[in-house]
Amino acid sequence: MTRRAVITGVGHYLPERVVENAEFEASLETSDEWIRSRSGIERRHFAAEGETTSDLATHAAKAALADAGCEANDIDAIVLATSTADLTFPSAATMVQAALGMTRGFAFDVQAVCAGFVFALSNANALILSGQAKRVLVIGAETFSRIMDWSDRSTCVLFGDGAGAVVLEAQEGQGDSDDRGILSTDLNSDGRYKDLLYVDGGVSTQNTGFLRMQGNQVFRHAVEKLASTANTALDRAGLTAPEVDWIVPHQANIRIIQGTAKKMGLSMDKVVVTVQDHGNTSAASIPLALSIGKQRGQIKRGDLIVAEAIGGGLAWGSVVLRW
Ligand code: UT7
Repeated sequence: MTRRAVITGVGHYLPERVVENAEFEASLETSDEWIRSRSGIERRHFAAEGETTSDLATHAAKAALADAGCEANDIDAIVLATSTADLTFPSAATMVQAALGMTRGFAFDVQAVCAGFVFALSNANALILSGQAKRVLVIGAETFSRIMDWSDRSTCVLFGDGAGAVVLEAQEGQGDSDDRGILSTDLNSDGRYKDLLYVDGGVSTQNTGFLRMQGNQVFRHAVEKLASTANTALDRAGLTAPEVDWIVPHQANIRIIQGTAKKMGLSMDKVVVTVQDHGNTSAASIPLALSIGKQRGQIKRGDLIVAEAIGGGLAWGSVVLRW
């Protein structure tokens, strides 16, 4: 028998306010047509004034707990991926812990920007495989609307707010790739590319700052690195791309998603796409897509899934799992 970390529940939350591309036409030299054709984005959600990342995360966490049929105090740990925590400290994860009424276990944040959920899932898997936790709530939650420079058309039209969560639970498998649960992971970063995508402020520099991105440079790295990490993780699990049921990619740009699928030799019928409705929600995009993919009836028990993401750092990685 082999211990596996299996997703037993999933949920998401999107703030109420929906902003269509056309809204940006009033304040910026941009168009719905440009945004759609260059990114695939049609609309995104923005958090209300006073609504924070931990608020979004708590809603998503409650939905995932309900889907898994368990209570907050059945959870041993919360791992929350975000680059937009409510406060400098404590972690957004501990705020979610309090909001859920969870009085045991431990909670911490993971910061790997858009690759954050893949890093969080990989860490949660390690907690389960090492016996430190039996049930982990893994959350991706962001309020990127707070770090947008609204005068920069090359970034502010691309991002949105939201949260997604999964319950990851220890189960026994046979030790082969037919097992449910996480079968392999692959994590990478290369700080030489730190200037391609960053926020020009922070605690140590004494201002919050705004997101800055050399979009076309990030784009160039994205397709190549995403296909490569996905294939590495599949190889580690003893699997190949044609066996994959669903690619659940980070939702930054439809052209990156299409390019990665093509490079892996997979058709777009095998890709869960939500970028048109959410924009880029950074660490929230993969759990949001998992939850919506399940809701749409795309993702079913036993399906082989590859989740892959890249973002600031650059940091990138993937997780291969059977649903
Ligand atoms: O989540 C983390 C990972 N992030 C990503 O994966 C983002 C990766 N990058 C991208 O998705 C794309 O590079 C963008 C969508 C950001 C941009 O698409 P692009 O095809 O790479 O365009 P570009 O940056 O090369 O810009 C083309 C033109 C420029 O004008 P000039 O210099 O050719 O005259 C821009 O100034 O489009 C202009 N432009 C815009 N025009 C209208 C940039 N933003 C806008 C805009 N509306 N909002």
